[in-house]
Amino acid sequence: MPKTSWIYAGYIAICLGVCSLLGACESEPSAPGLKLPADAFFSADFATGYELIFSCDISGSHGGKYVNVYVNPEAKAAWQTGSVPLPASTVFLKVMYNDSKCSQLHGFRARKKGVPGSAPTVGDWRWQALNAQGVIQTDTKEATCGACHGAYKNRDFTATQPKR
Ligand code: HEC
Repeated sequence: MPKTSWIYAGYIAICLGVCSLLGACESEPSAPGLKLPADAFFSADFATGYELIFSCDISGSHGGKYVNVYVNPEAKAAWQTGSVPLPASTVFLKVMYNDSKCSQLHGFRARKKGVPGSAPTVGDWRWQALNAQGVIQTDTKEATCGACHGAYKNRDFTATQPKR
């Protein structure tokens, strides 16, 4: 191939690379550039590591945001069948967006199940709220979040229901 063709081919390759990156930003629900503290319950590749169980719909109870909800794969079956209590280390992650396309990240809410007796008043769950930059704003075993989720005690404090 003549030299100019190589340059042309290289140009196309770079273009495709950039386009796919941009495309990823638009539609990819994970947040690859996000830096999370070590004690966050989830990592920035949540979209590949977890199962999506509620897809970009309005959340009435968390500030009118659009949310995706994820659960770790090991706990999904128990969540689906309502087999409670859910196993220790179960993590639910709610990713909140400002817009109905779920493209402008607003922040995160997460709950992690501890060992039996670790937080008896709130079903042994620990609760975190993080902002869009990944800074932990709430990290608690108290009833701040759990009081509201207490309405779903019979489903181990989990408000998100499987679709029937
Ligand atoms: C006003 C009541 C209320 C409060 C307060 C509240 N939640 Fe929720 N939460 C809900 C409801 C209802 C849902 C399911 C529907 C939705 O997304 O709005 C939910 C869903 C969730 C989910 C998805 C899994 C699930 O349980 O359904 C997570 C994770 C979560 N909340 C974490 C938190 C955390 C962390 C806090 C405290 C920082 C908190 N919540 C405070 C009502 C509440």
